[in-house]
Amino acid sequence: MRAVQFSQYGPPDVVEIADVDEPHAGPGQVRIAVRASSVAPGEVRLRAGEHRHDLPLTLPYRTGFDAAGVVDEVGAGVTGTHVGDEVFGITDQTTRGANADFVVLTSWARKPGAWTWAEAAGAASGAEVATRVLDLLAVTAGQTVVVHGAAGGTGVFVVQMAVARGARAVGTASEQNHGFLRELGAEATTYGPGLVERVAQMTPRGVDAIVDCAGGALADLVTIAGDPARVVTIADTTAARHHVRLTRGGVDAAGVVTLVLCGVLLTAGRVLPGRASFRAAMGIALVDVVALLLRS
Ligand SMILES: NC(=O)c1ccc[n+]([C@@H]2O[C@H](COP(=O)([O-])OP(=O)(O)OC[C@H]3O[C@@H](n4cnc5c(N)ncnc54)[C@H](OP(=O)(O)O)[C@@H]3O)[C@@H](O)[C@H]2O)c1
Repeated sequence: MRAVQFSQYGPPDVVEIADVDEPHAGPGQVRIAVRASSVAPGEVRLRAGEHRHDLPLTLPYRTGFDAAGVVDEVGAGVTGTHVGDEVFGITDQTTRGANADFVVLTSWARKPGAWTWAEAAGAASGAEVATRVLDLLAVTAGQTVVVHGAAGGTGVFVVQMAVARGARAVGTASEQNHGFLRELGAEATTYGPGLVERVAQMTPRGVDAIVDCAGGALADLVTIAGDPARVVTIADTTAARHHVRLTRGGVDAAGVVTLVLCGVLLTAGRVLPGRASFRAAMGIALVDVVALLLRS
């Protein structure tokens, strides 16, 4: 089968389409014939070598974490999923390889009927991260959550899952995305200088939890929260300096329950994919298009 990979860190042209062996579903896994898979901004940074010291990769490295498609193999011990089911999900965080003709999923849920393949392919990791961070912060109904970088591929899920829990969400985004955030159920403000004051004005009774999906503002976010234990970042490698928890997928991944829950919320129309997730490529040239996206 074809798979998108790179064998060395570097500029966009290190990305290649390789002929590789097909993977097979192990216990507790399913394999899908991929209809769409997505490219996360973080993978472009991985390719460029920005994380070669804090997150060294085994090369060649196959890209792609999220995919959607049709189940064609069901591993031992899997119940409730059958060959022919249309699903979306995530693959192993370390080995990845979702930008390919076939991929093994470790967590998945049924694709909501109203979603296109492309929307489904951009949904799973966002849903997983959102549930993971909201669980780490023990966000419950009635609380106020600030989401920094709320209009991005991950932030849109954090916002919506927080709202689905009954929390009030305040999101930071550039002005052009404020209307979009309001559609998702959040109140919006801009990031950048004056953030502490703007959020204080919007939340006179304080903030219960902060999810940082952007990085670069942890000092301000800790000031807003009043306690670093109320802040979790997915994007800022200086977290330890601020006594803030940095969470990464391989270590803390929330797993299949998350996606089932997300699938339920999606089917109920309570969580939408968000424009930033529309990075997927579809059709017979899937792998080639994904390679092009990685090169962009
Ligand atoms: N640890 C994990 O498990 C995990 C999982 C997934 C992603 N990540 C990381 O999380 C980060 C976000 O990923 P993503 O897929 O959501 O990226 P994304 O789609 O590019 O979204 C990032 C958002 O950050 C906002 N932003 C840009 N500059 C900003 C600034 N100076 N201050 C505040 N916000 C700013 C942008 O908002 P506007 O468009 O409104 O300007 C953008 O929507 C990346 O670093 C990614 O590598 C980590």
